[in-house]
Amino acid sequence: MDDETSGTPHIPVMVEEVVNYMHLQSGQRILDCTVGAGGHAIKIMDKINPGGILIGIDKDAEILDIAGRYLEKTGNAFKLFHEDYANVDEVLRKAGIDKIDGVLVDLGVSSLQFDQPDRGFSFSKEGLLDMRMDRSRGVTARDLIKRLSEQELQTLFWKYGEERWSRRIAKAIWNERRKGNINSTRDLATIIGRVVPRGRCTIHPATRAFQALRIAVNKELESLEIFLNKIHNFMTVGACIVIISFHSLEDRIVKHTFIEKAKQNIFRIITKKPVIPKDTEMAANVRCRSAKLRVAERI
Ligand SMILES: C[S@@+](CC[C@H](N)C(=O)[O-])C[C@H]1O[C@@H](n2cnc3c(N)ncnc32)[C@H](O)[C@@H]1O
Repeated sequence: MDDETSGTPHIPVMVEEVVNYMHLQSGQRILDCTVGAGGHAIKIMDKINPGGILIGIDKDAEILDIAGRYLEKTGNAFKLFHEDYANVDEVLRKAGIDKIDGVLVDLGVSSLQFDQPDRGFSFSKEGLLDMRMDRSRGVTARDLIKRLSEQELQTLFWKYGEERWSRRIAKAIWNERRKGNINSTRDLATIIGRVVPRGRCTIHPATRAFQALRIAVNKELESLEIFLNKIHNFMTVGACIVIISFHSLEDRIVKHTFIEKAKQNIFRIITKKPVIPKDTEMAANVRCRSAKLRVAERI
């Protein structure tokens, strides 16, 4: 489950583990599929230079700008692409690279995105119901809320949020929408808060529904599946792919694809069980609590 960590800069998760599992060496070509603000990328670049190159992808143009300015300070070689990592083949073609020596995918939302109210990711801040990582295209969360039927909304909350109160939430949205009462993140969070029993649950009642909307808006699971079905074509033998996920839907896709590719002698699974952050990291960074890291090697 994604956590909102309001007011904190984005702290890269499990950096030491990422660097160790990738067996980084100078001269390597490394692909960071979700470069974000460049937190992992800068550590990777430390290890692959001199002579290496980092290819960074992000679907969020604003974040990519931040990464560009941050990584420029290193003076090292990198190329950044505003793309969906599902289009990795197109990115590598543009970069003029046919094979890579390591891949990182750090899924989910950056704290920089959560913390900007106008992006609409946060239920604890008043903002537009946008939730698009790529603001240049696609439908917003508001569009989905306006267009989907009650049944479609229920399915969305169940499928992408595993929300047991999906029916109640869909009904409440349906009722309030007709009155024109859902215009902002706070409106939506309030409506959900009214119908989801708090019980003993420690998370905000809107957490799962917001996650579900975000996953649907950004077609997150589709991108992951498309990407996982082709990335091996671009990996050198011995190259490792490291994936950090933040909820069970993503982790399940990663786990099953790795198993499938291992049966086909494409990957060797390095982490039999997902690696989780050390206690010290969990204490220092709330956002990493739900992180799970899996690694496979191209054979
Ligand atoms: C958790 S953050 C990555 C943080 C980064 N590792 C760092 O250290 O700063 C996830 C990033 O992935 C991006 N993202 C999510 N899905 C994507 C996709 N399908 N294609 C490209 N970027 C994506 C988001 O815009 C966000 O910036």
